[in-house]
Amino acid sequence: MKTYIVGNWKMNFTVGESSIYLHKILRKLKNYRDIEVIIAPSLTSLQPLGLQIDRKKIRLAAQNFYHRDFGAYTGETSISQLRGLVDYAIVGHSERRHIFKETDKDIRQKVAAALRSKITPILCIGETANERTYGETNDVIRDQLLGGLADVSLEEVEQVIIAYEPVWAISSTGEARLAMPDEVSAAVQQIRAELTSLYGAKIAEKVIILYGGSTNPANAGAYLTIPGVNGLMIGNSSLILDQFVDIIEIAKRVQS
Ligand code: PGA
Repeated sequence: MKTYIVGNWKMNFTVGESSIYLHKILRKLKNYRDIEVIIAPSLTSLQPLGLQIDRKKIRLAAQNFYHRDFGAYTGETSISQLRGLVDYAIVGHSERRHIFKETDKDIRQKVAAALRSKITPILCIGETANERTYGETNDVIRDQLLGGLADVSLEEVEQVIIAYEPVWAISSTGEARLAMPDEVSAAVQQIRAELTSLYGAKIAEKVIILYGGSTNPANAGAYLTIPGVNGLMIGNSSLILDQFVDIIEIAKRVQS
């Protein structure tokens, strides 16, 4: 199975800065067949980076989109407008859920829209600190997973990537606490079990599951060696080119 390393740049970098970053990283990266490196820049950078990218080394992801294909939706961009530009799209990131109040229904419609456009959705799920404190972690994981996948068929689910990102571990939340490998492992096992009861064990085994939350070169190895974790989604550390490259190298070492 491939290892997936996703850099979520969030609302950072100008078009120029994004382009310089890409130029530099393309020179540093080798062409690893078993590592899928993905970056998610701002919408404005997708087109220029699309012209510059070497798709054998890096793929592009959208950070967000609207679920309808075309129409009178001022200010929105649809996933079908991003066809040809991106291979992946992040859906349901906790910042979208909590700051922009996206619901499971919005998220399910986006997952379906991405699949319709043959773009792989990266469905993010994860509980808040409060939810964990009150013992609701398992319920939140189940609700967000089932909510996001409600319209996804048996044939389609292998095209969906799941990212477990506990909100309390995301660096930008200020008081982030590092997730312990056994906490990540328990969540990933639960996700795999939910997928098994929805789609059967054979298919559930093939679904890519990522971990995200304050990952960096110092802890990437520990997360990547958790059974069932197929890669990482990286925020802050992906903005620092050398750190992102280090994590890719670590992923390569863990693989071999
Ligand atoms: P972080 O962000 O690595 O900065 O914690 C992860 C994410 O929000 O996807």
